[in-house]
Amino acid sequence: MSDPKELKTLSEAKTYEMVRLLAEGGMGAVYEAKQFGAEGFEKTVAIKTILESYSTNPEFVRLFIGEAKLVADLVHENIVQVYHLGKAEPIYYIALEFVDGINLEEFINWHLDRKRLPPADLCAFIISRVCRGLEYAHNKRGRDGQLLGIVHRDVSPKNIMINSEGVVKLTDFGIAKARMLMEQEEGEVLMGKVEYMSPEQARYEETDCRSDLFSLGIVMFELLTGRHIFETEDIYETLRNVKNKPIPNPRDFRKDLPEDLVKILMSSLERDLNKRYATAGKMGFDLEYHMYHKGYGPTNVTLGNYLKEQLLNKPADGHDPKEAKVAGGGSSADSSVKIAHRADTLFGDLLRSKPESDTQVQ
Ligand SMILES: Nc1ncnc2c1ncn2[C@@H]1O[C@H](COP(=O)(O)OP(=O)(O)OP(=O)(O)O)[C@@H](O)[C@H]1O
Ligand SMILES: [Mg+2]
Repeated sequence: MSDPKELKTLSEAKTYEMVRLLAEGGMGAVYEAKQFGAEGFEKTVAIKTILESYSTNPEFVRLFIGEAKLVADLVHENIVQVYHLGKAEPIYYIALEFVDGINLEEFINWHLDRKRLPPADLCAFIISRVCRGLEYAHNKRGRDGQLLGIVHRDVSPKNIMINSEGVVKLTDFGIAKARMLMEQEEGEVLMGKVEYMSPEQARYEETDCRSDLFSLGIVMFELLTGRHIFETEDIYETLRNVKNKPIPNPRDFRKDLPEDLVKILMSSLERDLNKRYATAGKMGFDLEYHMYHKGYGPTNVTLGNYLKEQLLNKPADGHDPKEAKVAGGGSSADSSVKIAHRADTLFGDLLRSKPESDTQVQ
């Protein structure tokens, strides 16, 4: 083939080698894996396998593939990119951008184990980045110019990741829709994580992008205060809470929260759709105004440095003194927390390390 205009297709079999099991999630397992190319080319990816019981359910597969196709072209800094949807008999799998970091549940738990809360400005930053990812996805149009109508439906701390450079990434777009159908068909109790549902989701009503903002509000409340608004031991009580429980004042749990940040949080948690934020873009903008209107505010570097200094007890990279100051506490390492750094995985040992010290949770 010498004329580039003659090239029509390129086709070759894909091979992935599993490096290690990262997690076993609700629908299957997640691995760190290597993708091989020509002449020793290697790329680290994440492979998410879909349990055989799901892979062999035609209705699930139909919905799952439909959603995967819908989100295939989502390319944004704050979204974990989908590289490939494949089938290796009998299971389906997805190859994803590998995120070398921690999920937000682990980030929250690291603080709670040490009776601490993350700096409020960094919380605002993390949530603002999720808003930007959501805004992009909600507004995504197909090749025909039509709005795709993407709604995440499973915004929760485990589906928000932070990499070692402080980049926040939302993952698992649209997968919840397929899973919900499967579980309802089986006659099981409703679906997955009811504690992060919007009231309209809990009532089985139609959802639009505002549903994701309510879920994000629940996450934001938990990140800022260490408290979950709705969660109880009993799934039905949790559901009732999602639908009816008055939203508590976050300042009852954390007195230092700025009034404008509380206002943003409460607007995302409005049950009345006409009062809730109408778009992720507006919520993201309000958070950014809150962070930056005085001139400086947190960035990826600030968050990355916080992870390195506080969670890993390592020196920070880059130069970000003003922002670190604004973020409130990113500049001095907590010497009481000794965490080994394993060369192959930045956060591997951290999450198994024993907590110690101090007293910020009220
Ligand atoms: N692309 C990725 N790179 C690195 N780690 C990942 C990646 N995707 C997921 N993980 C890790 O694997 C964990 C499990 O993911 P998985 O999506 O299977 O389950 P979950 O998030 O716990 O629940 P859900 O099924 O509701 O999404 C995540 O919480 C995260 O820590
Ligand atoms: Mg997930």
